[in-house]
Amino acid sequence: MSEEQVRSLEKQFDERIERDEKIEPKDWMPEKYRKTHIRQMSQHAHSEIVGMLPEGNWITRAPSLRRKVALLAKVQDEAGHGLYLYSATETLGISREEMYEQLHTGKAKYSSIFNYPTVTWADMGTVGWLVDGAAIINQVPLCSTSFGPYARAMVRVCKEESFHQRQGYEIMLKLCKGTPEQKDMAQDALNRWWWPSLMMLGPTDAESVHTEQSMKWKLKRKSNDELRQQFIDQTVPQADILGLSIPDKDLKWNEERQSYDFGEINWDEFWQVVKGHGPMNKERIKARVNAWEGGEWVRDAAMAYASKNQERKEKQAV
Ligand SMILES: [Fe+2]
Ligand SMILES: [Fe+2]
Repeated sequence: MSEEQVRSLEKQFDERIERDEKIEPKDWMPEKYRKTHIRQMSQHAHSEIVGMLPEGNWITRAPSLRRKVALLAKVQDEAGHGLYLYSATETLGISREEMYEQLHTGKAKYSSIFNYPTVTWADMGTVGWLVDGAAIINQVPLCSTSFGPYARAMVRVCKEESFHQRQGYEIMLKLCKGTPEQKDMAQDALNRWWWPSLMMLGPTDAESVHTEQSMKWKLKRKSNDELRQQFIDQTVPQADILGLSIPDKDLKWNEERQSYDFGEINWDEFWQVVKGHGPMNKERIKARVNAWEGGEWVRDAAMAYASKNQERKEKQAV
């Protein structure tokens, strides 16, 4: 293809996005668009399945049958999100094995938040309330992103995320209306999860390298700092209802901006965790690798069964 032809295809492509048309897997797309989507969508898929680990940790210890059922359903939802997203990413020409390999070798990233430990039951409340809450803020704009399979997957994902957020908040409500010990447990969990949740919305705009291009492709509608402000403004009143205090001495309502001012985020900690030095990075990857290796016999059995079936069908056809 000549350079001129490529330029004309690119122009048509940009115009389609401008008109809010969806780009489908078999459509022509610039290589950079394909690569960026593979990176972002597979990271998203990895985050969903690694995100199952901190909560899976509490399924056997949920304090009642009702809580166990809700937590189990939530963790299963996250597996489903991972599967939609891996399938959607495969339509761009990368295999599932390759994506797993990138995760297992540390080449691919996933959300930094899942590298923190879940030490008490209140962490289940806080994770649902804050982490799924921040995920909704990140993901709702993706329902109208330009790549069709991603946008469609996100519609269902977001509906489920709002159930996750509410089940977490309900746990917090219950703890905060409980004994002083239960309320302390809730406050302690908020103290540990607040700052990592703010970091989850990504580096500040000044350090976010992909923002401009992603805005053009509608992979992003608001900058990281705008999303973070939205999250804070939405979450502080929820903490007030719980009677909990946000662990930030600089947090203050700004009448003029009609928004909360907040304290400095420890970006060193964020980059340390992203680079693999968070409290749980090694354990998370180890758990994923063990699951993959331990599941090998299941994959082999499924393949053997499929090929036997195929042979049988071929014999019958003869
Ligand atoms: Fe999810
Ligand atoms: Fe979720």
